Amino acid sequence: MSEFILPLDPNKRSTQTVDFQSALRAKIVGQAEGVQALVDLYQVFCAGLNSPGRPVGNLLFLGPTGSGKTRMVEAAAQILFGDAKSIIKVDCAEFQHSHEIAKLIGSPPGYLGHRETHPLITQDALSASHTDKLKLSFLLFDEIEKASDALWQLLLGMLDKATLTLGDNRKVDLSQTVIFLTSNLGGGEISELMQGGMGFIQPKDKPADLLDEKVERTAVEAARRKFSPEFMNRLDKVVVFHPLQRQQLEEVLAIELGHVQQRVLETAKGQFLFRVTEPGREFLLREGTDQRYGARHLKRAIERHVVYPLANLLATEQVQLGDLVRIDWDGQHNGLTFVREGEGALVSTLTAEPQPEPAVVEAKDGRSTNAPAEVVVEPRKSRAALPAATPAAAPQARKKQDRVNS
Ligand SMILES: Nc1ncnc2c1ncn2[C@@H]1O[C@H](COP(=O)(O)OP(=O)(O)O)[C@@H](O)[C@H]1O
Ligand SMILES: [Mg+2]
Repeated sequence: MSEFILPLDPNKRSTQTVDFQSALRAKIVGQAEGVQALVDLYQVFCAGLNSPGRPVGNLLFLGPTGSGKTRMVEAAAQILFGDAKSIIKVDCAEFQHSHEIAKLIGSPPGYLGHRETHPLITQDALSASHTDKLKLSFLLFDEIEKASDALWQLLLGMLDKATLTLGDNRKVDLSQTVIFLTSNLGGGEISELMQGGMGFIQPKDKPADLLDEKVERTAVEAARRKFSPEFMNRLDKVVVFHPLQRQQLEEVLAIELGHVQQRVLETAKGQFLFRVTEPGREFLLREGTDQRYGARHLKRAIERHVVYPLANLLATEQVQLGDLVRIDWDGQHNGLTFVREGEGALVSTLTAEPQPEPAVVEAKDGRSTNAPAEVVVEPRKSRAALPAATPAAAPQARKKQDRVNS
């Protein structure tokens, strides 16, 4: 008889789980514990070891606003189902009154408007995310601290029995579903904790580990104060999201700018590349992030200061297929400037003059201002080094001379 015993490695992950993990890490900055929680669940589900008669997982995400709680669920959906919107998302603040609960589960037969109410949570809606390989669904209850009592009752049943009874008595089976719950509870206290350092700098007197621990304790205690033990006991895991540090916000910005570049490369109008200089990035971070809202306003700042102007430049054919646009910061006007590198044409969105049929964008002070903007000639003709990346399509021959030179 052979004495040889093959050692098993229970920590080894399947290729698909490893792939999922790296894809999620590429989309989510930091929040390692949240990523881990999802990866663990996925592995258990793929192995078919999730407990029958219960949801695949009940996860509570705590932590301050704009730290990536909702984004984590969307990113996972995008990776697993091919679409970030393949989630049933319930904004708890929108279901405060009993008639609003009908929007979730439909109203009983015979009720006025019974036929018109289409419940949000149905078996069909859940299976919409199913693919040939993966029969899994995500149900997200966002900002649960705002949920009404009626919604809590529903929620408790779902977390426990993995079933939901609709208004017309049909049953929805949630045993192939991950239930995500998010809450900003304790977010204010966490911000206060971080205030010691101001900005996003680590307070000197608080080592990072201790601060992390304190953030976690603060969030969990706030949740325990607010939520009943019967709720807390039904959770498989509570994950605390940490406020994003300065460097992490820079990474989030890089990811979001990458999304914009992707959109530009997908447009039929004219694919071009852009790059944002360091001072330009600093400006966007100042505009789009802060201690209280984390990265929540970053996308808006990017839309306003990058996407709208780029759209104007495209619509007016000032940039075309194959161009490389440098986006820089102009300290004098505290705004961004757009230069087509190599051509030397500076297109400024700062000196906005009323134009025929302009797109309206909101100015920094909240007033509306007109874009597209005036085009001025940059004094220097600089040919900056091109980045390693090349446009998806070859540059088209420029048909007309730049009007800026006339
Ligand atoms: N950790 C993160 N990784 C990547 N993007 C993030 C992260 N945190 C926040 N963001 C960005 O900020 C936006 C708002 O984050 P969100 O997930 O909605 O915050 P909340 O924690 O309040 O749910 C996201 O859409 C995303 O662009
Ligand atoms: Mg959220």
